[in-house]
Amino acid sequence: MKIAVMGGAGYIGSHTIIELYKAGHSVVVVDNLVNSSNESLRRVAELVGEPIPFVNADVRDEAALNKVFDENKFDACIHFAGLKAVGESVEKPLEYYENNMNATFVLLKVMRSHGCKNLIFSSSATVYGNPAMIPITEDCPKGQCTNPYGQTKSMLEEVLRDVQKADPEWNVVLLRYFNPIGAHPSGRIGEDPNGIPNNLMPYITQTAVGLRKELGVFGNDYDTPDGTGVRDYIHVCDLAAGHVAALQAIERKCGLAIYNLGTGHGYSVLDVVKAFEKANGIKIPYSIKPRRAGDIATCYCNPQKAFDELGWKAKYGIEEMCRDSWNWQKNNPKGYKG
Ligand code: UD1
Repeated sequence: MKIAVMGGAGYIGSHTIIELYKAGHSVVVVDNLVNSSNESLRRVAELVGEPIPFVNADVRDEAALNKVFDENKFDACIHFAGLKAVGESVEKPLEYYENNMNATFVLLKVMRSHGCKNLIFSSSATVYGNPAMIPITEDCPKGQCTNPYGQTKSMLEEVLRDVQKADPEWNVVLLRYFNPIGAHPSGRIGEDPNGIPNNLMPYITQTAVGLRKELGVFGNDYDTPDGTGVRDYIHVCDLAAGHVAALQAIERKCGLAIYNLGTGHGYSVLDVVKAFEKANGIKIPYSIKPRRAGDIATCYCNPQKAFDELGWKAKYGIEEMCRDSWNWQKNNPKGYKG
């Protein structure tokens, strides 16, 4: 298939392009590079052995997007483009709502006018809020999101649900990501956060490489086995493969389909620290800090539906996730910048 990839230069997008090529698909990437770099696409090209068609444009730029869709006949679109820093979204709600909502509105209009009605959307486990059940299945009711970033994911899911309901020619797959970590085993591409990392694994790897003094563990008084937060970490290459698998749902004309993409295993913050130390032989200094606002105790999924319907399941365990995260960071201490 020929796939339009919105936000394809970012962390998850770049890994997904590799999986798409491996499966025989082709892509055109649209990205405004606000939170990514075209160096990632240069390296993806190296890894797949051919150039990656790329258009430097904002998805909200309707004229630019129309041109991309005029010039290419796409079978489907994968929409990764969006702002995603939770803390920043609390400080700049308007920017987050404007960016994430409008980009999707423009994309949907352009797709519709070009008769391309197959969409895979990057959603998040954040839509479950403080989950009503553990492990979380797709039937779990959505919850209250604690920040504008999460709200945009949840609201966009509803927009897509309504669009598909009004016009059943649409096939929309909502992929609810759990916690992606790891990097391509080559160490050539990986996560390259701007500034101080918000997420756990980049903070650990930056501590390991000496960019940060110590990890702050946000709370050890949660109702979990060791008191620290429990999450469902998933190797980014497994997550990427989940998008290729989701194309099968589109081929089967799924209408609206929702899948959790996680491993189904919960690891605490201290489990991850220990796994990282064991996998890489590096000590991670840490201290216990107060809880972070908006955090929940436990979040992991039941990924059975994606296996039953798409034949997809995560292949990598926590050890490989820690190994590949470190392999990327140590080979690229400053990310794509040097
Ligand atoms: C966060 C977002 C979520 C988003 C996801 C994207 C929040 C509240 N949620 O998920 O909406 O979809 O990132 O990847 O921000 N931790 C520390 N020290 C750190 C960083 C994190 O102890 O320096 C802990 C957290 O308290 C949590 C766990 O590590 O228990 C994972 O945190 P993180 O990587 O930020 O992911 P989430 O909070 O699960």
